Amino acid sequence: MNLATPYLGLQLANPIVVGASPFCDNAAVARQLQDAGASALVMHSLFEEQIEAEQHALARHVEFSAESSAEATSYFPDYAEYQLSPDNYARQLGRLKADLTIPVIASLNGSRPGGWTEHARRLESAGADALELNLYQLATDRLLGGQEIEERMRETVAAVVRSVRIPVAVKLSPFHAAPANFVARLEGAGAAGVVLFNRFYQPDFNLEELEVQPTLKLSDSSELLLRLRWLAIISPQTRGSLAASGGIHAVEDVIKALLAGAHCTQVVSVVLRHGPRVISSLLGGLRRWMEERGYEDVGQLRGALNLSRCPDPAAHERANYIRILQSWRV
Ligand SMILES: Cc1cc2nc3c(=O)[nH]c(=O)nc-3n(C[C@H](O)[C@H](O)[C@H](O)COP(=O)(O)O)c2cc1C
Repeated sequence: MNLATPYLGLQLANPIVVGASPFCDNAAVARQLQDAGASALVMHSLFEEQIEAEQHALARHVEFSAESSAEATSYFPDYAEYQLSPDNYARQLGRLKADLTIPVIASLNGSRPGGWTEHARRLESAGADALELNLYQLATDRLLGGQEIEERMRETVAAVVRSVRIPVAVKLSPFHAAPANFVARLEGAGAAGVVLFNRFYQPDFNLEELEVQPTLKLSDSSELLLRLRWLAIISPQTRGSLAASGGIHAVEDVIKALLAGAHCTQVVSVVLRHGPRVISSLLGGLRRWMEERGYEDVGQLRGALNLSRCPDPAAHERANYIRILQSWRV
């Protein structure tokens, strides 16, 4: 049985990739993930703010204070609070490449064009097989419209793509007015694929302290549905690679994401909950499911229920919304 799948021009041994997370900060854990069957690892992100802070510190041009920066930098973690400095990140990447046989994907996180995008070249030199660029952004400025924000994102992707020869995937939020069109524009800018989707960590309110409290809740399978819909819609309209990220917890989730059109699935929460060995049980489940139904190649699943191939395309679209609302009786 063939579980191999193409992703960003790489040939992955199977469709289960460990998504961006702190796992790779520990080389022994990264090794366990490979041993459990992960077909590639994505490192945690280096942030635009972090790289710029280092560039400023090195150039000694800018006094790094909240007052001197365009952003209220005092809200950002201190320089030393980031998990790995850009230097240590490159060193860790080199170590992982020396230790592992599976591809290692480095991650950058930022959405505005700037000198920081050239850092991509350093990650390529350190051995990254591909880059994932996370465009995480919250549009909070009433003077800044969606078109302007997306154009900045497109320029950022183009700048990163120009800096390197390795493939660049873009990790997107679900909150774009026209995701299929935006993905097409990112491909025009040179993106080799997209990762659907980022999760937003919504802060909660603490009523005792009257404070806004950061929270990090791990996902569950219900989050996959949003991914399935957009994978199914985008998959017939792109030749780029698609990764599902968010809500992959069971083998059924992996299968659904493939049927929707994903080339691979990224797992984080499920591995944080159950440890690396969960990957081998997901792979075992995938093999069993395919065997029982006579599939020989994971490529046969890919996109079989996407918008252009599923028996009822309306189920992915507005008609589904109308049907669902009409079906509720009291
Ligand atoms: C502890 C933790 C750290 C993460 N760090 C990053 C990161 O550095 N960069 C990034 O793009 N995503 C990061 N993510 C998001 C994951 O890559 C993934 O998109 C998200 O958790 C959804 O997948 P899941 O449902 O399998 O958890 C992180 C998630 C967790 C839980």
